[in-house]
Amino acid sequence: MVATHTDLNIAGLEAEYSQKTPKEILKLALETFDNISISFSGAEDVVLVDIASKITKNFRVFTLDTGRLHPETYQFLDRVREHYGIKLEVMFPDAAEVQALVEEKGMFSFYQDGHKECCGVRKVRPLRRKLNTLDAWITGQRKDQSPGTRNSIPVIEVDTAFSTPEHQLIKFNPLANWSSSEVWEYIRALGVPYNPLHERGFVSIGCEPCTKATLPNQHEREGRWWWEEATQKECGLHAGNLQK
Ligand code: ADX
Ligand code: SF4
Repeated sequence: MVATHTDLNIAGLEAEYSQKTPKEILKLALETFDNISISFSGAEDVVLVDIASKITKNFRVFTLDTGRLHPETYQFLDRVREHYGIKLEVMFPDAAEVQALVEEKGMFSFYQDGHKECCGVRKVRPLRRKLNTLDAWITGQRKDQSPGTRNSIPVIEVDTAFSTPEHQLIKFNPLANWSSSEVWEYIRALGVPYNPLHERGFVSIGCEPCTKATLPNQHEREGRWWWEEATQKECGLHAGNLQK
């Protein structure tokens, strides 16, 4: 039975599920909420889509097309759509906002004055529009992705960054406790399709101008917004992480 989300004891569920498997957490998420969607970046978080497809044929996936993704990522998004037979809901930025930013500051303003403004226009505001229509969302965040900002993310939480006084939003992070190695063991063992950029040294993948391949033993986050302070590498999608 689907509960109304105000009935849920989120802290209790977090305590109960904190050590459970990604599949058990995803099952809870998909069985508890009708109006829920997986947030898919086009990288190794494809494992969420794979696990969900083994639980139900009836799940939703959305992606934020910033307009600045790698060609390989666009191709991969289509591959995932076809492979799993899913409809991928694609959120685009507001055209007038992108136009105003680019006209005023050019295509690469983030190298000069930081990524927050461009991420705000191309990612965060489109995400907010999507989240305003949902009761819960599912992300591929993991603790090991960013020691500075993600090492205490829970598997289930109230999304303090995107809830409003009228509308509480729940966020599930089923992969929170998995390491990068566990994700990659899963991808290889089960033959899950992956973004070909991973074969060229890319670990964490975001927008093309703000992502680079990493060297052996460099942390994956060093390939993102590398010109900025390491402890603040959140683009606003998971702004709640900076408050913890
Ligand atoms: S980011 O905030 O730094 O860009 P990251 O790339 O680590 O995020 O991905 C963490 C999770 O955020 C992904 O597993 C996914 O759930 C969500 N996410 C990141 N980028 C996107 C995107 N472009 N579209 C949809 N979800 C995304
Ligand atoms: Fe803009 Fe870079 Fe943020 Fe993408 S990651 S939205 S290109 S600043």
